[in-house]
Amino acid sequence: MIKVAILGYGTVGSGVFEILNANSEIISKRAGDDIQVKYVLDLRDFPGDPAEPYVIHDFAEIEKDSEVQIVVETMGGLHPAYEFVKASLESGKSVCTSNKALVAAYGPELLDLAKSKNANFLFEASVGGGIPIIRPLKTSLAPDVILEISGILNGTTNYILTEMTDNGSDFDTVLKDAQDKGYAEKDPTADVEGYDACRKIAILTSLAYGKQLDFEDIYTEGITKITDRDINYAKKIGAKVKIFGSSKKVGDKVSAMVAPKLITHEHPLYSVDGVFNAILVKGNMVGDVMFYGQGAGKLATASAVVSDIMDASKHVNVNINTLWDHEKLDLLPISDVKSKFLVRVSGSKNDNEENVNKAFGKVTPVDAGYDDEYGFITEEITEAAYEKAADELGNVINKIRFDA
Ligand code: HSE
Repeated sequence: MIKVAILGYGTVGSGVFEILNANSEIISKRAGDDIQVKYVLDLRDFPGDPAEPYVIHDFAEIEKDSEVQIVVETMGGLHPAYEFVKASLESGKSVCTSNKALVAAYGPELLDLAKSKNANFLFEASVGGGIPIIRPLKTSLAPDVILEISGILNGTTNYILTEMTDNGSDFDTVLKDAQDKGYAEKDPTADVEGYDACRKIAILTSLAYGKQLDFEDIYTEGITKITDRDINYAKKIGAKVKIFGSSKKVGDKVSAMVAPKLITHEHPLYSVDGVFNAILVKGNMVGDVMFYGQGAGKLATASAVVSDIMDASKHVNVNINTLWDHEKLDLLPISDVKSKFLVRVSGSKNDNEENVNKAFGKVTPVDAGYDDEYGFITEEITEAAYEKAADELGNVINKIRFDA
């Protein structure tokens, strides 16, 4: 019998409790042992809830109970999640978490600690909600050198961009609608500014290359500047605007960024719409592998956490080796990263053509039917070259990278 403590009875924590009860038979058979919740730690009480008998308010009870072998951290935030996770690992318990902020900030340290205690620190639910991506990266794709990861890693922004594309709505209207429907947070900053996707691509890239990529070092651009005009330019060239968290092996270095990109129907993630997430991984042996599913939501995310609980219960006193060193990943400076760009400048084509050609060299004009601006796609150039040319012109309205 494996005893579990759940820290935080919010959306994901209550989902974990629900799945462990609803699917207990199949979970026990597959895990090879019965898994039972012993404690639910929360500040609140839950009168009438099935978890009520298990609710406690003092973490120390869990820490000192040697019967608890697995701690589930579904509190979110960095503190006290970090302190509780650290104390759990120090007392030899395995930890399964859905907390991307914790994993992105303290991944190597907590993995080291788990290893030193023959325990495990598992975090499948921290990226892509219910989509299995962490374990496949650690196991199924382990023989490969990872060449590229491209992920639609945030459901809120994918929903907003999809609505803008399909219904012609503007950003503010869709965001408000998404908030009313409960898809978007009251404070949507982390989603719409790309910070959420940034932590997720930091985790995936660190695991893919076995070295630490600090999320603060990743160039991150959100979707707040995308307008209906951008969407119309995209449509004109048969493309959609999607926000990607991506990383790529470039020689001995790795490039990484979070930014809106244009993709055409040839791209494997073109049809990933609405709140769905998807991740494309390119291995040097396996080729392209795609993962698709619900990147958020109670039961989807909790299912990923329970998969970790089952993995931990099959590895009591056995550390599952995870390559993620403290050593920093050699990141290609953003100025050297190459893309094509769709650029919009103010003024007519006639007003701009000569200057644009002088600044950017060869470009392909895109006519989206606006007389007061000129749109064009550049050849593949570095970010530094883009910045220099854009400065020279001085009338850029917006630019979107073109993943073609
Ligand atoms: N807020 C996130 C999203 C879900 O919209 O995808 C949790 O990572």
